Amino acid sequence: MSESETAGKNILLLVSGSIAAFKAVSLASFLTKSGATVRVAMTEAAREFVGPASFEGITGEKTRLHNFEAGSMMAHIELERWADLIVFYPASAESISGLAHGSGSSLPSALFLAHEFKKPFLLAPAMNQAMWKHPALKRNLDLLKSYGVEILPPASGPLACGESGEGRLIEPEDALRIIRERLEISQVKSAVSKPRILVTAGGTSEPIDEVRHLRNLSSGRTGYALALRLQQEGFPVTLLQSEYSFAREGVRNLILYSTTRDFAEKIKHELETEEVSFVIHSAAVADYRVAEVTDTSGKPIGSSGKIQTNVPLLLKLVPNPKIIRELRTWSRNKELKIISFKLTADDSSDLKLETYDSEWIIHNHLRDVGDELHRGRIFSRTADRGYRETGSFRTKKELESAVVSLLSQGSEEKP
Ligand SMILES: Cc1cc2nc3c(=O)[nH]c(=O)nc-3n(C[C@H](O)[C@H](O)[C@H](O)COP(=O)(O)O)c2cc1C
Repeated sequence: MSESETAGKNILLLVSGSIAAFKAVSLASFLTKSGATVRVAMTEAAREFVGPASFEGITGEKTRLHNFEAGSMMAHIELERWADLIVFYPASAESISGLAHGSGSSLPSALFLAHEFKKPFLLAPAMNQAMWKHPALKRNLDLLKSYGVEILPPASGPLACGESGEGRLIEPEDALRIIRERLEISQVKSAVSKPRILVTAGGTSEPIDEVRHLRNLSSGRTGYALALRLQQEGFPVTLLQSEYSFAREGVRNLILYSTTRDFAEKIKHELETEEVSFVIHSAAVADYRVAEVTDTSGKPIGSSGKIQTNVPLLLKLVPNPKIIRELRTWSRNKELKIISFKLTADDSSDLKLETYDSEWIIHNHLRDVGDELHRGRIFSRTADRGYRETGSFRTKKELESAVVSLLSQGSEEKP
């Protein structure tokens, strides 16, 4: 690896209050010497450990200290946009918590809130070994990872506090090597931009009255897992998730829906306004909605408020429009490709796949969907608009990998 990855690049170095903050001066020095322009933003606590003047002397750039600095009120936005890569070195447990929970109280955390995940964001924790093992810290790091932050794991060894164990800040030379590698990858990535994906998940919900709904068993977990995996792979992903599903943590672009009508309006709006390349349609859209509630003599019972429960009721269900058939009409991208899911609960051999207007159909049987195990088959559309089995999977992870490979296959194919 040569210095060309860092030469001419803008690196934003964030520093927080750790005993290891002095190593950030070495990292700033290595980066500057290798041709990068380095700007530093520090937390207030960091200044207790290392002076802003050290960074200014080395980088030749003004060190940013807080949100309300005269002349640079918008530093949190401008610095984020300016940088080619952001590295938080060292990141204290306190700062990690602030980032994970969307706090904007320090300059580095406000800056993270303005981060659009279009460039690498690396974070190097440093702390005492007990802090490093703490479940709150682990959870915060998992959250940051799910957002797309890369954690540079600390080393094990003697710590400043006199104890020994994991928590030592990664050495500046190693951080420099990783920064160079990430800059090289992001150069390649920006040359080949990834297609936009819309994942639908969960089940629609049809109201009977204002408190009772007809719902299905979809948990929204399969679509959620796919959205997270694709987000981690660097795809721009939006998850359209049921408001009754809690499988949504860590998804950056999230839209919630309730009824089938609401679902239809939201997916239509997304397809009309965004250049979506693939829809992964795993949501269970209700086939019927409640048109009317009557008593047994056919007299309508108003569904506003809460229906009294002392009389037998008749629900009149009418079919919902088939949304899957509308997707291409709504889509501004006329080369839209669709991967849809079909769940069966009986053993009929006729899957009626022809009714799905999709490039690929992922078929699974209710009994084959469990916590980790998830068996199923993949069907691909043939030239005569029939379907042919072209793959299978046995676990959730295999399903995710199969979808990733369908996306790359679909991106290469000419329409
Ligand atoms: C001498 C000393 C060393 C510290 N070292 C660390 C450290 O390595 N990691 C850490 O997470 N906190 C450390 N702390 C605690 C943080 O400085 C404290 O939580 C502070 O509020 C962090 O704020 P900041 O994240 O905004 O910089 C240390 C505190 C002191 C007094």
